[in-house]
Amino acid sequence: MNAAADVRQLATSLRELVWRSRQRELLHAPDRLAAMRDVGMFVSSLQRHGVEPLEAVPEATDALLAWGLSVGMVPRDTVLHYGVWNPPGKRQRMFLGERQESVVIDAVRVGTVLIDDIAPTLAGVAEIHPSQTVFGEICHAVADQLETLPEVMNDIYRKVDPVEFYAARLGPFMADVVVADRPYYGPAPVHVPLYLIDRLVWTSDHGDADLAYFHNDLIRYGLPQWRRLFERTEGSPSLVTRLVREFDRPTGPPATRVADAMDGVIRIMNALVTFRSKHNLMAGGAYTDHSRYATGTAGVSPGLLNHILTLTSDCAQHARSRRTGTRS
Ligand code: HEM
Repeated sequence: MNAAADVRQLATSLRELVWRSRQRELLHAPDRLAAMRDVGMFVSSLQRHGVEPLEAVPEATDALLAWGLSVGMVPRDTVLHYGVWNPPGKRQRMFLGERQESVVIDAVRVGTVLIDDIAPTLAGVAEIHPSQTVFGEICHAVADQLETLPEVMNDIYRKVDPVEFYAARLGPFMADVVVADRPYYGPAPVHVPLYLIDRLVWTSDHGDADLAYFHNDLIRYGLPQWRRLFERTEGSPSLVTRLVREFDRPTGPPATRVADAMDGVIRIMNALVTFRSKHNLMAGGAYTDHSRYATGTAGVSPGLLNHILTLTSDCAQHARSRRTGTRS
């Protein structure tokens, strides 16, 4: 249907799916998430072909609102529906059905699962003093996991054309859709919750207003527990700050265990910098003032992405300089 730009059939299929979903009660959250995913494929597809989906199929509105509300999420498909809740293999839902799309879906799956796993562990470090062995152990274990993120981006770099495929062909499926008078972003990789790692490791006290507005916009598209974690850690000392304080004490160099923890946090910061450097190369190539696409699906230009990269590398440098300034 998408290949033929068959909007009539897309609208009919959307109508049928919504009708079928009403034939039985979706008692369990996974059923409602799956319904949102499948209905979302049609919603996003109609929008891609220039049809405001809920104007064409208004009866879908109540279903989207009810499913979104029941799980504390936005009333449309997100990157979670398109990625982790999208089964791999033959049953994988795709807009274009091409290899490059599958690579992108895999990347967002890996990224989301990884971050969802790491975030609570990192949050738990708030209860532990940096001089305890377990503090450093957790930092290094998180770094081990996070270092796979740049590899994910390397894979994208090798296999996905950022201009002709990502921006020109896949991006249009991720355009805003109006649900009950409000616009909602589409299921784009920008919603992979990297902001959670940033928040816990450094941005709670090293960010700025641009970054805060960007992240506050993105968190609406995640899971309720991610939003709670994000909100509860606002203004709390970041991992970087807690460790730097140990190095700044007038009593002399910190214990070896603290230095080891700082090494772990530096590895985490380096992984973020490496991921963003590679990512921004692709984003900057695809979205420029002179190209067809000046901003991405969340309305953000490569200028802001590079600003975030600069903030990340400045903070990594800040941590490294404290570490090397010690005599441990
Ligand atoms: C060719 C591939 C890609 C291109 C051209 C691209 C482009 C962009 C653009 C333009 C933005 C700015 C936000 C917006 O959409 O308005 C962005 C943000 C972002 N993208 Fe991508 N993206 C790509 C692949 C990915 C993948 C596979 C992931 C995750 C695994 C990802 C994760 C992110 C994140 C986390 C942000 C937020 C900014 C940050 O934290 O630095 N992107 N991307």
